[in-house]
Amino acid sequence: MDDQSKKTSPVARQVENIPRSGIRDFFELVQGVPDIISLGVGEPDFVTPWKIREAAIYSLERGHTSYTSNSGLIKLRQSIARYVNEHFQVSYDPNDEILVTVGVSEGLDIALRALIDPGDEIIYHEPCYVSYAPSIVMAHGVAVPVKCESSNAFALDPEALRKVITPKTKAVILNFPTNPTGGTLSADQVKRIAEIAVDHDLVVISDEIYSELTYEGSHVSIASMPGMRERTIFLHGFSKAFAMTGFRVGYACAPKYLLDAMLRIHQYCMLCAGITSQEAAIEALDHGFDEAMAMREHYLARRNFIVHALNDMGLTCHLPRGSFYAFPSIQNTGMSSSEFAVELLKETKVACVPGTAFGESGEGFLRCCFATSMAQIEMAMDRLAKFLQKV
Ligand SMILES: Cc1ncc(COP(=O)(O)O)c(C=O)c1O
Repeated sequence: MDDQSKKTSPVARQVENIPRSGIRDFFELVQGVPDIISLGVGEPDFVTPWKIREAAIYSLERGHTSYTSNSGLIKLRQSIARYVNEHFQVSYDPNDEILVTVGVSEGLDIALRALIDPGDEIIYHEPCYVSYAPSIVMAHGVAVPVKCESSNAFALDPEALRKVITPKTKAVILNFPTNPTGGTLSADQVKRIAEIAVDHDLVVISDEIYSELTYEGSHVSIASMPGMRERTIFLHGFSKAFAMTGFRVGYACAPKYLLDAMLRIHQYCMLCAGITSQEAAIEALDHGFDEAMAMREHYLARRNFIVHALNDMGLTCHLPRGSFYAFPSIQNTGMSSSEFAVELLKETKVACVPGTAFGESGEGFLRCCFATSMAQIEMAMDRLAKFLQKV
């Protein structure tokens, strides 16, 4: 856009400057291509477990079609409090420390808007979920990435984090297990990051969306560390573990002073999450955990297969300790991530996402989502191996 149109465009500058999602651009190439095998979209291939769908249907049958309280149904908030206490060892008051959101996406957006004064710096680790940097910028903040290295199993190095803290740093976003790398943090690493947050008086926004999909060790939430409950915004949802992406429901837990700020934004911009989804979410938390764990078993078997297959064909792939993504290196092919993904798609009709969709530090990598059937993964690995023999 030239200077003249920049001056006259009604679009806000910080929005004008946001790049389109790299995933979206890539998937426009995929549209309409027949026989495609997609390891692209980060979404469970399972349909939502029947008992959860049934709860949604029953909610509609009973004519529950109204708004709910801005904070969400109290019954759902009580179930969230119980679930979070049981699985993450942190206790929140359902009356004023839990907010039902339209997915983790909304939780992240209102957390950032509640925290950021223009120019505040927000640190996040990279490669990371595509929305972090744009969401920070849209809230008038400055996005500060810290690179996670494959040699460190894509964990966040506490010392690397400490180095980028400035007097303007307001918060840190954590997402372990990580999309797109499958990196996790040990309890000791979480503790060291918590100490840094306390030392520098930082808020931590913890995106826990893949926590149930932890395969090695056990997941430790930073909210459970000493001194952290009062400075953590705990975000979680139903999209991944319960295969409920289309329900658009999630939650934020935080001490009252932070939750209240988020609630004030939520009540004006969102009002409330859909009641059908909220009633389905109660069923998921109260009775759906076994189904979630059964899906996790499938992801684990697929993970073991895909990581083995990738390494066998010469694409070094660290073991993703969580999530449902493998993140192999394609550096030894001499191609860029984007060239590799486009050629792979053209030549073999296998769609994977170039690592650069997740930030500059994703260059040299490819994201392969294994939340698809084993048969499809096997076929994709066959095609990928043949492709590699030619390049
Ligand atoms: C790390 C991460 N956070 C948040 C989301 C969005 O979650 P939701 O569907 O709850 O909005 C995703 C979706 O891919 C994700 O990978």
